[in-house]
Amino acid sequence: MSRVFSGIQPTSNLTLGNYLGAIKNWVGLKEGHESSLYCVVDLHALTVPQDPEKLRKQTRETAAAYFACGIDYTNSIVFHQSAVAGHSELSWLLGCLTPLGWLNRMTQFKDKAGKKKDQASLGLYGYPTLMAADILLYKATHVPVGDDQKQHVELARDIAGAFNARYEKEFFPLPEPQILGDATRVMSLRDGTNKMSKSDPSDYSRINLTDEDDVIALKIKKAKTDPESLPSELSGFEGRPEAKNLMTIYAALEGKELSQICTEFGGKPFSEFKPVLSDRIIESLSPVREKMKEFMKDQVELDNILKTGAEKAADIAMKNMHDVRDIMGLLQV
Ligand code: AMP
Ligand code: TRP
Repeated sequence: MSRVFSGIQPTSNLTLGNYLGAIKNWVGLKEGHESSLYCVVDLHALTVPQDPEKLRKQTRETAAAYFACGIDYTNSIVFHQSAVAGHSELSWLLGCLTPLGWLNRMTQFKDKAGKKKDQASLGLYGYPTLMAADILLYKATHVPVGDDQKQHVELARDIAGAFNARYEKEFFPLPEPQILGDATRVMSLRDGTNKMSKSDPSDYSRINLTDEDDVIALKIKKAKTDPESLPSELSGFEGRPEAKNLMTIYAALEGKELSQICTEFGGKPFSEFKPVLSDRIIESLSPVREKMKEFMKDQVELDNILKTGAEKAADIAMKNMHDVRDIMGLLQV
């Protein structure tokens, strides 16, 4: 049996990074798998302070983005994490099997907690065990994520292995990270050495899926570059992270190799490339934005879709949780 699971936090507007590194690659992925689940991971969002009303809105907006990007909710299970209680329960159970040493290796915690480690929450520290629970609750085998989440999926795999070894059973399949697409790490438009992120204080660092066309054009116009013309071969990207990022985004949207884009645009100035790039981004993202607006207009319908998704997810989760409790020796009466 093979099953796909992935998720995105509803922490704020989704970005072009989420689109190219995650959602775009989920579309059509169900082929060849028994089922696929796409979750809006609202419990993960709570690892940092959230405004309650905003969190609810962003949970709906993230689901709307999934649908607008082409995830078919009649074919895949789309739901929000907090609607299926098994996520929190399994997170606790798996936490009891996870050595601190494994959590201490997680680079995302180190980055997010920074120097104020003592003030970071237990939730932020235990974030990877909740993510492992998301995946293992459904015995998912394939986990499509951007490059930054590979370490967390590998940890989920180690935790699955630890469970199987402790209870001497091949119960959990070992999940595989799938790093798909041609832009697995889209970088900030302000600094080509930093990831494009929803949480960057500068809105000019990212393209949001909700940005209007003129905003997209302006952000690309203002995107950081260097004084040289575009490289005509891959070796020309040495020390030029911004050039590499912009051309990689274009290549990914065109579905071409980066080297092909170098051949097409090598020697040209950024002033010539940028309008082509912003037109291409607009071509891809403006239909997504308009569809998102449509989904957001009918909140009752959107909530119903999520509710149906949660029911389907809970059916699978309930059976697996029953087995897990049984294996771990919890009395079920
Ligand atoms: P997050 O926004 O951190 O909840 O990430 C959700 C998904 O989008 C994960 O699979 C990430 O790896 C992916 N992702 C987030 N930012 C980027 C980026 N800048 N480039 C590529 N993938 C990304
Ligand atoms: N931690 C992931 C991120 O920030 C989101 C996520 C939560 C996830 N649970 C998951 C991704 C399970 C894949 C599978 O990007």
